[in-house]
Amino acid sequence: MNSQKQTIIITGAIKRLGLHFTKKSLAMGYSVIMHYHSEISDDCYLLKDQFPGDIAFMQLDLVNNPEDLIIGSLNITDNIIGLVNNASIFAQGNLSNPSDFMEKFSINTLAPMRCSSAFYKHVKNGWIINITDANIKRPNSSFQNYRISKLFLEEITRQQAVIFAPDVRVNAIAPGAMLPAQHEKDFFTTLRDTVPLKSVGNIDSLINTYEFLVNNNYLTGQVISVDGGWGLL
Ligand SMILES: NC(=O)c1ccc[n+]([C@@H]2O[C@H](COP(=O)([O-])OP(=O)(O)OC[C@H]3O[C@@H](n4cnc5c(N)ncnc54)[C@H](OP(=O)(O)O)[C@@H]3O)[C@@H](O)[C@H]2O)c1
Repeated sequence: MNSQKQTIIITGAIKRLGLHFTKKSLAMGYSVIMHYHSEISDDCYLLKDQFPGDIAFMQLDLVNNPEDLIIGSLNITDNIIGLVNNASIFAQGNLSNPSDFMEKFSINTLAPMRCSSAFYKHVKNGWIINITDANIKRPNSSFQNYRISKLFLEEITRQQAVIFAPDVRVNAIAPGAMLPAQHEKDFFTTLRDTVPLKSVGNIDSLINTYEFLVNNNYLTGQVISVDGGWGLL
């Protein structure tokens, strides 16, 4: 890996929004450690060929010892500047199901919290961006555990921002409806008319916000909703 370039670690980097954060980071001149869980697609190998020396892949189930992500990354390069906690489980599941709660809490809350602590301890300087969700403010009938796991992550963002200052900035982006999961396509179509700015899937806005947070070194502890005003309703 190109040790001259500053490197960003991105969890869940090989698909969907994680891949957008990866491509933007590469375009901004960073190297990327692309964390993945299950398998790497051919498109990602192609991307690696297009950016020789700028990409390393790292497989890890974040449920156990998520700190290994940071330790393993430091074995690849010591020029690390950023961490994007993007990986998550988005699925239905309610408080009546404690094991589901623990699963969501483990990946959506504990894993980013522990990776961030390891980043602060071992990398020592830089920034962290947590990816939360703009649609978690109101109680929800069928995604209760997901919602609460992300609410915790927002609060951890603010808490760690204070603990890690002045060495590491910690912010969060709360996306609105960006990329539908399989079961959400019809919902996205209906939602377009409901969102105040009458738009869903505005990835450009999300990526612009990411660039803004990476570059703005006087911001910490902020959660920026990129949701067309959906969270205001
Ligand atoms: N898509 C949207 O419109 C939207 C809206 C609001 C918020 N968000 C947030 O934005 C982020 C990205 O969303 P997305 O829709 O692109 O996500 P996604 O398709 O749900 O992908 C999440 C990633 O997390 C990984 N992951 C799941 N369990 C894991 C585990 N145990 N260990 C390691 N990695 C694991 C998945 O890997 P595998 O698939 O290999 O398991 C996948 O790469 C998430 O934090 C999500 O909550 C997204």
